[in-house]
Amino acid sequence: MHPHLVCFTPSCRAAFDITDVLYNCPKCGGLLEAAYDFGGLDPAALRKLWRERRMDNAPLAQSGVWRYRELFPFLDDTGHVITLREGNTPLLSGPRAAAYGGLDRITFKHQGFNPTGSFKDNGMTGGAAQARRLGMKRVACVSTGNTSASMAAYAVAGGLDPLIFIPNGNISYGKLAQALEYGAKTFQVEANFDQILALVRVLAEKLGIYLLNSINPFRIEGQKSIVIEMMDQRDWRVPDWIVLPGGNLGNVSAFGKGLREMLAVGLIDRLPRLAVVQAEGSSPFYEFMRDGGRGEFAAQTHPETLATAIRIGDPVSWPKAKLEIETTGGVVERATEQEIADAKAVIGHSGIGCEPASAATLAGIRKLTAAGVIDRGADVVAVLTGNVLKDPDYIYKYHTGQLQAPGGAAIRPSFGNAPVVVANDPDRIAALIG
Ligand code: F0G
Repeated sequence: MHPHLVCFTPSCRAAFDITDVLYNCPKCGGLLEAAYDFGGLDPAALRKLWRERRMDNAPLAQSGVWRYRELFPFLDDTGHVITLREGNTPLLSGPRAAAYGGLDRITFKHQGFNPTGSFKDNGMTGGAAQARRLGMKRVACVSTGNTSASMAAYAVAGGLDPLIFIPNGNISYGKLAQALEYGAKTFQVEANFDQILALVRVLAEKLGIYLLNSINPFRIEGQKSIVIEMMDQRDWRVPDWIVLPGGNLGNVSAFGKGLREMLAVGLIDRLPRLAVVQAEGSSPFYEFMRDGGRGEFAAQTHPETLATAIRIGDPVSWPKAKLEIETTGGVVERATEQEIADAKAVIGHSGIGCEPASAATLAGIRKLTAAGVIDRGADVVAVLTGNVLKDPDYIYKYHTGQLQAPGGAAIRPSFGNAPVVVANDPDRIAALIG
């Protein structure tokens, strides 16, 4: 069986060619996913091969994504790949953060160590390779910032024209700056993420532009490598929990698919539980799953959060995310602006640092341990999705007591660390140092 695209909707499961340019099932409108026959794969041989590649200087072996390509063999020719040596992100322990989160220990998988500073690079190298394989010239995305930064870099590195659509305001300057620096044509649209996604889908169709949002199944294939690399780094010991922030819900969909496939191939012996954390003002998936995901999915028309990366009210991948939460016995939590801000400062104070959306993980963990959902002794990996320098404005405002939640409520700098303005006077400074 050749790799192919399949409709994700259980009652449909229509199959399509892997080179069809599709984002939704033409039969039922459902989401699509890549499907393979993993029948011949030997887990011991794969583990050995992947370890050997770490010592190999070939670009594809050095990529922390393509090193694991046997689990996403959708390309006919790896010559289409553009790699910036993405992945290879560390597992870091954070004792201070663990204590804050009510855990004996915590491990962070820090995707902010990626070439453009977020986990999007893992997926983008996959989507960009497919764009080149299809002979596309122009690629587009709507983004809260990280997808656009990543797409811009991979597109120009691979000779494609990037077109970026972002909400006017509500995007951090670090991310906007990256898009401009990498040379993407950038449109700041007077609308929110969900509205712009609808717009970009129309434009993509009309102008024959390839869409690189996470609705693109090849983005999801690349993002599976985050959990594959995580397990490789842990010598295939499965944690009890993997915790991640949720926005458009592409990442949790990728994690779940990757984990299920690793289980099927025999690389792992059980599934970890997945916990998705949303920002309280942008938490449609939390609301939906609160009563078991049985009702209608209700989008939020005015999502709000200072964690702008996850300011999304109508996440496209919710059906996939629902399946992955259910399959892994997972949970969905939400955190307030204050909780996210404080958790972020604690991660910073652990010498690690991350952007606001990423800190939703620790804020959520603190609530889940307090509620007895996660045990104090559990083996927990929290995925930090973006680099600390993505949103310096937020950091400065928090530490100087100027940060305000979307409604205008002040955020307390519980762990504030304001700079001290002082005259050029050694005695005075010595007295201040004490
Ligand atoms: N964390 C960060 C730093 C993000 O940039 C995003 C999404 C998420 C978490 C949520 O991941 O959407 O897969 O559930 N950012 C997208 C963007 C939407 O446009 O950069 P998700």
